[in-house]
Order: sequence, then C-alpha cells, then structure tokens
Amino acid sequence: MIDVYPDLESLSRAAAALLVRQANLAVAARGRFSVALAGGATPRRTYELLAAPPLKDQAPWDRMHVFWGDERCVPLNDSRSNARLAKEAWLDHVPIPGTQIHPMNCAPDPAAAARQYEAQLREFFAGQPPRLDLVLLGLGHDGHTASLFPGTAVLKEGERWAAPVYLAEADLHRVTLTAPLINQAAVVAFLVAGGAKAGVLREVLHGPRDPARLPAQLIQPQTGELRWLADLAAAGSLP
Ligand code: 6PG
Repeated sequence: MIDVYPDLESLSRAAAALLVRQANLAVAARGRFSVALAGGATPRRTYELLAAPPLKDQAPWDRMHVFWGDERCVPLNDSRSNARLAKEAWLDHVPIPGTQIHPMNCAPDPAAAARQYEAQLREFFAGQPPRLDLVLLGLGHDGHTASLFPGTAVLKEGERWAAPVYLAEADLHRVTLTAPLINQAAVVAFLVAGGAKAGVLREVLHGPRDPARLPAQLIQPQTGELRWLADLAAAGSLP
C-alpha cells in the first residue's frame, strides 16, 4: 500500500503520526512498543516532529524501545552515524529511558556488534517471536534498504537477525538487521522522498522481482503490514 504526499514535510508528518499511533496501539495491547529506525537523511524531519508538540505530548515514551535498522560503524559523534541523527533530532528531547534506547555501536568491531545486537534483541523478545511493532526503512538509489546492499552476502542470510556488512567502495563497515527479522515485524514503513528516487521506487514496486539487484524487494512482511510513504516527486514515475 502506497500513500503519496505533496512534499517531504507532509510525508514526515504522516510518518511521525504513524509511529505515535502504532506506539499507542502497541502499549494498549501489550504494554510496550518496539521500533527500528531508518538512517540516512529522509527520516530527519520525521524525527524532529516527534520531538515537538503536538506529537511529543501524545506518545508513551516510557514504554518505547528504540532499535536501529542499520548503522554505519563510525564513532557516535560522526556525522554519518544513524544513532547520532536520531538522538540529535529526537531522542535527546523526549523522556525515553536510556536503557530502552539500543544504538548498534559497531565502530570497534562490526562482527561482534552484530552478534551483541542479536543477543540484545533475543533478550528483548525473551523467546517470543521477534515481532518489532514498527520498522522504518529508507530506499537507496541502488535499491538497498537498511544496509541490505546489492551484491552483499547478507541478502542470503536466512537465520541471523543482525549481520555485519562491508561496503568496499565506501570502505565502510555497517551492521544491519536482516530481511528475515524485518519481515517478522507488525508494520514496515518505507519513507521515500525526492525525484532522484522515482526510478528506483518504480523498479522496486513495479519492475521484475530481482532482490539481488533491488534488495528492498526482500522486504515482504510475513504477516505484518507493508506501507510505502512517498512524496509526489518520488512517486512521479509510478503508473
Ligand atoms: C543508511 C540507511 C539507508 C537509507 C537509504 C536512503 O544507513 O544509509 O539506513 O538504508 O535509508 O540509503 O537514504 P536517504 O534517506 O539519505 O536517501
């Protein structure tokens, strides 16, 4: 299901409202809400809106548990850090208990960090199915999402919930949640904005199925809901 918004601002308002709505539903049903955040530039405005009224006053912050969909393995104060983005724009401004915010911190050792992250998730889900209430994702120009990049071994990962990824061209290590884990989520929402994404969005949604080339096509929630939030510019090439 795709919802098209006039611009990034209205897309961000919808995404922030979706998070608050899902949080209140999850807390009412199960007493807590778990979300995995997207990195990159697109979600910044969404995060800023969550740190300001009215949404800031409508969310069950004390019952919220924040994970990341992926992280660049750089120091937390590095401008490329996804955790830094979310903390500066949002998390440092709302009263989520620090013990409920789980950055990936993979700079020292990506492989160890991926194992530790999976252990944190297993502890959080305590033997129950790892059903994140909401996963926010972006879409890269090359069809990647989280750090599921074309041509990387993690695309074939069928068991692990988190894995290290090395991007040679950027000489950058990352850790990502895997498709098997993301696909167990209750709601997965892609946030896609800008004309530069129009071609890849059309390919992912309407092109031939080729997840090795377009890893975003791996994201097919088993029982959960898949939502696409796009602005008019990104949706411009859709039939
Ligand atoms: C990352 C992100 C990545 C991002 C896309 C889109 O760490 O790079 O998780 O998957 O969502 O690359 O990025 P933009 O929103 O900056 O276009």
